[in-house]
Amino acid sequence: MAVSRPDETPAWRALAAHAGETAPLHLRDLFAADPQRFARLSLAWNDWLLDFSKQRITPATLPLLHALWYAGGVPEWSARMRAGEAINHTEGRAVLHIALRNGKPALLHNGRDVMPGVRAVLEKMERFVAAIHDGHWRGAGGERISDVVNIGIGGSDLGPRMATQALAACHHPGLRVHYVANLDGADLATVLAGLQPRRTLFIIASKTFTTQETMQNAHSAREWLTRELGATAVAKHFVAVSTNLVEVERFGIDPENAFEFWDWVGGRYSLWSAIGLPLALAIGMARFRELLAGAHAMDEHFFTAPVERNLPGLLALLEIWNSNFLGADNRALLPYSQSLALLPRYLQQLEMESNGKQVDREGRPVTWAAAPVLWGEAGTNGQHAFYQLIHQGGRLVPCEFIACCEADFPLPGHHEKLLANCFAQSEALMRGKTLAEVQAEMAAARIPEVVVDRLAPYKVFPGNQPSTTLLLPRLDPFNLGALIALYEHKVFVESCIWNINPFDQWGVEYGKQLASRLLPMIEGRTATDGLDSSTTGLIAASRRR
Ligand code: F6P
Repeated sequence: MAVSRPDETPAWRALAAHAGETAPLHLRDLFAADPQRFARLSLAWNDWLLDFSKQRITPATLPLLHALWYAGGVPEWSARMRAGEAINHTEGRAVLHIALRNGKPALLHNGRDVMPGVRAVLEKMERFVAAIHDGHWRGAGGERISDVVNIGIGGSDLGPRMATQALAACHHPGLRVHYVANLDGADLATVLAGLQPRRTLFIIASKTFTTQETMQNAHSAREWLTRELGATAVAKHFVAVSTNLVEVERFGIDPENAFEFWDWVGGRYSLWSAIGLPLALAIGMARFRELLAGAHAMDEHFFTAPVERNLPGLLALLEIWNSNFLGADNRALLPYSQSLALLPRYLQQLEMESNGKQVDREGRPVTWAAAPVLWGEAGTNGQHAFYQLIHQGGRLVPCEFIACCEADFPLPGHHEKLLANCFAQSEALMRGKTLAEVQAEMAAARIPEVVVDRLAPYKVFPGNQPSTTLLLPRLDPFNLGALIALYEHKVFVESCIWNINPFDQWGVEYGKQLASRLLPMIEGRTATDGLDSSTTGLIAASRRR
């Protein structure tokens, strides 16, 4: 049976009509008209609060959005994912990252339970982390490891890097964890500049173990190490995390020192696998297991809560409302937490690499605007950079605020001010300030009328900028795990409704292919025949040095 395009379903059409009816409404009027708006349009889960009352919706919008959940077949797709079906159909792979934080029950892949393998790797990680922490594992010269350098990129970097920063308050003393991703030698060189080979351990993290950036950095790191300690030192200073154990061995890493994961774990969903090893080293295995438990708790919530109370479902539906029905082409993620400063970057890969697709599951063009551009920055820093545009730039920018009730670094006087700024921003974006209010405010400050007339228009805020605020009790491993899983499932729900495969990433291949074609030309080994004039000109200019 032909699958309907999402924009041809009755649920979609009903929302389109509803969007037309609600377009003239302003958030400040909606709040004024309904004192119960917050109670009606907020949701609790554990000790979390999701306030979506500042979204441009009315209570009547919700059932219409819920209908999209069913039209997109979210419960059916979820069941297929959990059953280990190859729902990543373009790569013929199952999608079972949920198994990595599953606890006890069996999860089948091709008829075999994956859980014994998952547990075995976790136990191997546990032994390794303990050996590094208690000094049992020593460098080739007999010294303790003081610095760990994770070399990886994309999904083999962003998750552990973000979580290591997010959980800075839980770091194990005496061990520093660094991350190197960029092919630009400046990344590796500046990290190595402060390190001693004898006390440094490298983790080469790559699902495929063929990624150009990671392999170049791994070779340069090995060169740096062996120059001082000799080739035999590699065994005590290099470990690998990969699905490709053949390539790991070819690189020279003892399979004993390799941590396996599987092709049913997508790169951007791999934090929960051994890709999380640098994080486990930073916070200890007990806290790493708390992270897994948090993600598992969110899985349980996602798979069991009805759409009316389903947090990932709700976030997905609000994003679809904003982008497909109100016309937003972006979303700003604004964590009021320095520890979550890398969350926007992490979610850029999770959301945009997953849902930034041009064809649907049937190979037909996607004409319904999937995956808005995600951007953002930690508050309050962003307030002093780009918030001007959000307030008065005339664009629709749905904002997602994240804040924690408790500070992870409780310096006196900081946290209350941070929260005040966060809540003030969403209030200002919602309310705006009218010309009459500006004039009254200036008159009350005894500003001369002529100045009021001249400046008042600049001080008007249109408001009606939609936002959601997610309030967590505190940033700890459990809540971080649940937070990341929340976004994973949000992306999945969106993909069901947009009818796209969120688990492949063909769009990153073309650039890689062209780069390998251009490399010998930049090195001067082959002629630049057959290139366009711009690429030819750039190569010629780069060689004039
Ligand atoms: O950017 C493309 C990509 O394949 C990502 O999906 C992946 O996370 C990243 O490269 C790194 O891949 P690997 O872990 O195989 O080195």
